[in-house]
Amino acid sequence: MKQEKIAVKLGKNSYLVTVGRKLTDNIGAHVKKICSGSAVAVLTNDVVAPLYLERVRASLKQSGFRVITIVLPDGEEQKSMETAKHICEKLIKNNVDRTHFLLALGGGVIGDLTGFAASIYMRGIPFIQVPTTLLAQVDAGIGGKTAVNLSSGKNLIGTFYQPKAVFIDVDVLDSLEKEVFAEGMAEIIKHGVIKDRNYFEFLEKNLTDIFSRDKDLLVRMVAASCRIKAEVVSKDEKEAGLRAILNYGHTIAHAIESLSSYKSILHGQAVSIGMSVAGRIAVYKGLFPEKELNRQNKLLEASGLPVSQSRFSATEIVKALKNDKKIKDGKIRFVLPVKIGEAIISDNVDDALISKAVNAVFP
Ligand SMILES: NC(=O)c1ccc[n+]([C@@H]2O[C@H](COP(=O)([O-])OP(=O)(O)OC[C@H]3O[C@@H](n4cnc5c(N)ncnc54)[C@H](O)[C@@H]3O)[C@@H](O)[C@H]2O)c1
Ligand SMILES: [Zn+2]
Repeated sequence: MKQEKIAVKLGKNSYLVTVGRKLTDNIGAHVKKICSGSAVAVLTNDVVAPLYLERVRASLKQSGFRVITIVLPDGEEQKSMETAKHICEKLIKNNVDRTHFLLALGGGVIGDLTGFAASIYMRGIPFIQVPTTLLAQVDAGIGGKTAVNLSSGKNLIGTFYQPKAVFIDVDVLDSLEKEVFAEGMAEIIKHGVIKDRNYFEFLEKNLTDIFSRDKDLLVRMVAASCRIKAEVVSKDEKEAGLRAILNYGHTIAHAIESLSSYKSILHGQAVSIGMSVAGRIAVYKGLFPEKELNRQNKLLEASGLPVSQSRFSATEIVKALKNDKKIKDGKIRFVLPVKIGEAIISDNVDDALISKAVNAVFP
């Protein structure tokens, strides 16, 4: 079957994203073309390891690499300075130096953490992303944002550090829980709404088969989303402007996530609710036709994602928005769709309108 290759164009930091089938089985041969080092440290967790580590290790060994494996416990709590330090100490113990490289085998947690460790270990060693959740394949695995969390907030420590390559094997999506798969769909639908109407229509048309994990469709879909993310990142690596468009739905999502202390709601679900609120704000501002909003919400709901919630009041949401540590000069920034396929970034949404939209969406 055909593989799709997408270029992330960032001058000397450019790299290719390869999307296809059975890539984990042949990862050694793929990596060999990019990394000349003799050793590779594979970072993964105790959920992914029993599923895919052995075949990755065998393939790397077969290609002549010395393989070190670091298996962490599952969970967002692992995105910490303590774990980053633990990884670095393991690397030292195993004589990993700057001629070697790291390989992230896992979801966004493993990807962010491996990228962060790679960027600080011996002032930077190369790393490869092999994302294994749908969300990591279309979002976290590309773009070079690495991070760990502080107790006061998520992703507050991090670096921009690009991988040398990203290998995406859609076969590993078979073992994902439906809810976790749907989380990735939230970001994918987001891509359609902000950037590509035809892509949105493709998702509408093929949703059932996508959820049945039809591999041909998954390759096309993941590649299309990677192309959108790669294009945005290539134009604005460090989020000086345009890259913020990818935060559609995320302003409200972050507020809901922080109110629920990042528990009891999945990120993709919060993003889906956030898209519903941002879309409503855009309708009130006369930017986005109501019909288009309904179409967006219909696709989210058909993916098993929520477009409303009843736990938090509008007052709580607006208060949480104001506490967001990343807000510039007290201005809350929204990405607002103008039609399915196009969005703008706006600092010009007053609190009253946010409350009105939140109240309308959360009955
Ligand atoms: N760097 C970025 O640009 C960026 C973008 C978006 C999100 N993120 C970060 O990514 C993280 C979320 O990523 P995620 O949603 O992948 O979460 P995750 O890494 O926690 O993975 C979700 C769950 O799926 C399991 N899993 C992974 N692959 C599997 C597979 N193939 N089969 C079965 N189970 C599997 C994991 O062990 C975990 O339990 C957050 O920390 C977020 O901050 C980063
Ligand atoms: Zn997101």
